[in-house]
Amino acid sequence: MKRVFSGVQPTGNIHLGNYLGALKQFPELQDEYECIYCIVDEHAITVPNDPKELKAHILDVASLYLAIGIDPKKSIIFVQSDVAAHAELAWILTCNAYTGELFRMTQFKSKSQNKESAPAGLLMYPVLMASDILLYDTDIVPVGADQKQHIELTRDLAIRVNNTVKEIFVVPEGRFMKEGARIMALDDPTQKMSKSAPNPLSRISLLDDEAQIKKAIMKATTDSEGIIKFDIENKPGVSNLLTIYSVLSGKSIETLENEYEGKGYGDFKKDLVEVTAAALAPIREKYNEIRNSDELIAILKDGAERANAIADKTMRRVRDTFGLGL
Ligand code: TYM
Repeated sequence: MKRVFSGVQPTGNIHLGNYLGALKQFPELQDEYECIYCIVDEHAITVPNDPKELKAHILDVASLYLAIGIDPKKSIIFVQSDVAAHAELAWILTCNAYTGELFRMTQFKSKSQNKESAPAGLLMYPVLMASDILLYDTDIVPVGADQKQHIELTRDLAIRVNNTVKEIFVVPEGRFMKEGARIMALDDPTQKMSKSAPNPLSRISLLDDEAQIKKAIMKATTDSEGIIKFDIENKPGVSNLLTIYSVLSGKSIETLENEYEGKGYGDFKKDLVEVTAAALAPIREKYNEIRNSDELIAILKDGAERANAIADKTMRRVRDTFGLGL
């Protein structure tokens, strides 16, 4: 069975972009692949964090994983820092990465922009991500389009070590949704929907209720043309809403364009509120059931044990290859 690995940062505000670009795929893959889903808390500390909030967000994301349908009997769910090998392999990969390729990462450039100095952790972020993936001999990494460059770096590092040291890493492939890989902000469809944007109406959080969903969608930026048509260049707002509608309802964009021919943005948005609320309500209910349960902690402990067993095996091979230890 091929192996899938992916991760989400425990930073709060997990939104519809995270869901449609990545998370929605997670439960869908678990019958066909051996799946490992991580809560990447070590990535979260590359920017300043409140420790109490971080701990709470770890459990929030774990609960969301279960709420969207990841089955802990089929898949491994665990917290990154519960497996020390992530940081260890990251160091070994750091020694095989070039500073130039890290400085070229667009995420590093945008996060360090206009700052006199940036934490080295921000620069090393993609190496830690490569470590997450290579540690588990991962074949497939389901992620949103914004992670494409990081997946490329992971592949480059794996191929470099395989060619220059020894063939020890599986070279993984990214898996991107045809629709939904890049969900844009509702208030500004030229920017991607993000957890950290100051305007809460720029996103729909997975735990928003119908009133919050309605507020964000009804205020979403469109255009003055009044035609419901997919055209990213000229109608980015409407195109983004059509994408969300299509992925959540399972109807093709063409079907939606036909259904809404001659209708206005008001009707279209009202229906999209209904579709979104109906899709998120069961997630919210399941989340509330599980968030404070003892079962949640037991699942994460079991996940860490299973993840450690795989990671230990990889690290024996890696340490031996690099001549580390006795
Ligand atoms: P994170 O926590 O920022 O986002 C989680 C997932 O959501 C996707 N995503 C989006 N997809 C579509 N539209 C958007 N607007 C949007 N915003 C976010 C992200 O692409 C991601 O798949 N570096 C990763 C976490 C990570 C990881 C890993 C992922 C660490 N190690 C190993 C895979 C494998 C990140 O910051 O995700």
